[in-house]
Amino acid sequence: MTDLKESPIAPEEAADDKTLDVTLRPKNISEFIGQENIKNNLRIFISAAQKRNEPVEHVLLYGPPGLGKTTLAHVIGNELGANVRVTSGPAIEKSGDLAAILTNLGKGDILFIDEIHRLNKTIEEILYPAMEDYALDIIIGKGPSARTLRLDLPHFTIIGATTKISLLSAPLRDRFGMTYHLDFYNNSDIKKIIERSAKILNIKLPSEPADEIAKRSRRTPRVANRLLKRVRDYCQVEGDGDINIGYCQQAFKLLEVDELGLDWVDRKILEVIIDKFGGGPVGLSAIAASTAEDIATVEEVYEPYLMQLGFLDRTPRGRVATDTAYKHLGKKRSGQAKIV
Ligand SMILES: Nc1ncnc2c1ncn2[C@@H]1O[C@H](COP(=O)(O)OP(=O)(O)OP(=O)(O)O)[C@@H](O)[C@H]1O
Ligand SMILES: [Mg+2]
Repeated sequence: MTDLKESPIAPEEAADDKTLDVTLRPKNISEFIGQENIKNNLRIFISAAQKRNEPVEHVLLYGPPGLGKTTLAHVIGNELGANVRVTSGPAIEKSGDLAAILTNLGKGDILFIDEIHRLNKTIEEILYPAMEDYALDIIIGKGPSARTLRLDLPHFTIIGATTKISLLSAPLRDRFGMTYHLDFYNNSDIKKIIERSAKILNIKLPSEPADEIAKRSRRTPRVANRLLKRVRDYCQVEGDGDINIGYCQQAFKLLEVDELGLDWVDRKILEVIIDKFGGGPVGLSAIAASTAEDIATVEEVYEPYLMQLGFLDRTPRGRVATDTAYKHLGKKRSGQAKIV
């Protein structure tokens, strides 16, 4: 089985991205490239909250991996001059864990909850009054003598991030004052991100290779930064360190990343749908089983970009490969699509 983590274009965070992500992460709104709509909204609500001298409303950020949710959470914190505490859905196992976090927050602090869709139900229920009334209900004792004690919490702000908003329960979703959807970037913004990163990393990057990297970056900043690094490494080993278009193309050939940013996993997914299931519709679990990949990875990591390219459609009966996908892979449709 191919390890997805090794794929140069998997938008999920890989182990060696951590340091790169931190070095390259924009600190404030002006450094954050693209997503103009979100930035304009944020500027207004941040300055309104500052004028009123009040903590901002709870914010929910959602979108595919690597588009800047964590970055944006920290940007909001910096712009507000607030402390940002970081946790994640799966890290909060017991109600006591959440109580400990909440009671340690100060007024105006931000609690960033990554992967908020993975919070369990009991924890969510403690979060409701905390978000709405800034109160924590603690049950003391057991059985008939049990009592509830209500603790007041300081006014704080939760920023939640998720790649799967559909898994968030409606009551939790409703408690966020603002919800922002991060969408894929356009190529010119991705190019700007690559040029900004090259500057920070002291890489001399002419415009042409910058375009070449941008177009293969799956419209995703994390992938863009990673490809820049891979190309830089390649040029250092194979050449004199300068990045030029020729080396750039050779590097991508070696990485098996095509001119649309697809790698072997994307191609395998499309080939399975086309060759094994007559183009679809086919269920997600069948695709995952036939490609030996994890269902969640196929759905949350690979499919969003394939759909963005118009290569894949999600229909009520399953996934369907489009004509553009056939064309890209150089395949011909054979008769009627198979009905599953
Ligand atoms: N708008 C942007 N401008 C410049 N760089 C960006 C931008 N958005 C993201 N990046 C870069 O991409 C990296 C990945 O972004 P980030 O970690 O915020 O993604 P994410 O949406 O939280 O992903 P995940 O869902 O995997 O947690 C950041 O470290 C940063 O370097
Ligand atoms: Mg993140």
